[in-house]
Amino acid sequence: MTTQGRLGGKVAVVTGAGSTPGPGMATGRGCAILLAREGARVVLADIDPDRATETKKIIEGEGGEAVTFAGDMTKAADCEAMVATAVDTFGTVDVLVNNIGVSTAGTVVDTSEADWDRVQALSLRTMFLASKSAVPVMAARGSGSIVNIGSIAGVRGGGYASYAAAKGGMHALTVDMAYAHGRQGIRVNAIAPGHITTPLLFSVVGVTPEADYRQRMAAASTMLGTGGDGWDVGWAAVFLASDEARWITGVVLPVDGGVMAVTPLMMADHLRAVQPPPPA
Ligand SMILES: NC(=O)c1ccc[n+]([C@@H]2O[C@H](COP(=O)([O-])OP(=O)(O)OC[C@H]3O[C@@H](n4cnc5c(N)ncnc54)[C@H](O)[C@@H]3O)[C@@H](O)[C@H]2O)c1
Repeated sequence: MTTQGRLGGKVAVVTGAGSTPGPGMATGRGCAILLAREGARVVLADIDPDRATETKKIIEGEGGEAVTFAGDMTKAADCEAMVATAVDTFGTVDVLVNNIGVSTAGTVVDTSEADWDRVQALSLRTMFLASKSAVPVMAARGSGSIVNIGSIAGVRGGGYASYAAAKGGMHALTVDMAYAHGRQGIRVNAIAPGHITTPLLFSVVGVTPEADYRQRMAAASTMLGTGGDGWDVGWAAVFLASDEARWITGVVLPVDGGVMAVTPLMMADHLRAVQPPPPA
């Protein structure tokens, strides 16, 4: 165990700490690597043990400490076992990053009931159950930090009915948990990533010229004019997890290059540079 780094001596649990195969950095893996880089010992929870093991190898290759936990975070028993693994292996849980989430495009009219339930289970129920298991451990010690990976989809419309409902639910639950557990020394915050480039994205749209174009448009839609990735989310998680954020709770932090703050019409000139208007 190291006491060096912004999270030295702390124990973190990251759900969905593996990654969809493909180019780029996933948010769960990015959070896990950076938490470990800052000194945390990390439990890498994933339904796919091979994916979690890949993350473990990266962390250990950098001299960090991590263990994997294979389980389905939609199941209460697996969440309890995940927290028990952290306690048995490293002694406690100081930090929980609820990262699992999946999206399906569709309005309320064309979203199937099965898709609705699947998105709610993976994106919202996992946060509920992992937190349900971790909070008593944190409360017993009088300290803890929970970081939930939400989305701008929980605040802005985009034609993803089930995902929007789940992420909006995550944001609301973040605030409610911050209230309920603040006097137990537990801080609860969320990160709302914008349109970031991750392996999950490429697994949905493919590595195609169209995908590349969409990513350039996503970058151009930000105030900064640049794209983000899993590392950007990971650094925000490091801050919220650390004692540097000791007086921050109940916050939904956009990590989006300024997308949520921009006036849409004012973005038109920037977007024209990427996609020139047709000749008059
Ligand atoms: N990519 C974006 O543009 C974007 C934008 C906003 C928010 N997000 C959010 O970021 C997160 C995506 O994280 P990622 O990049 O790490 O995704 P990812 O899909 O690459 O990795 C998530 C991991 O979760 C694991 N997993 C899936 N179901 C599980 C279950 N039931 N139990 C345990 N593990 C399970 C998968 O095996 C995978 O390894 C999601 O919450 C997503 O909503 C992404």
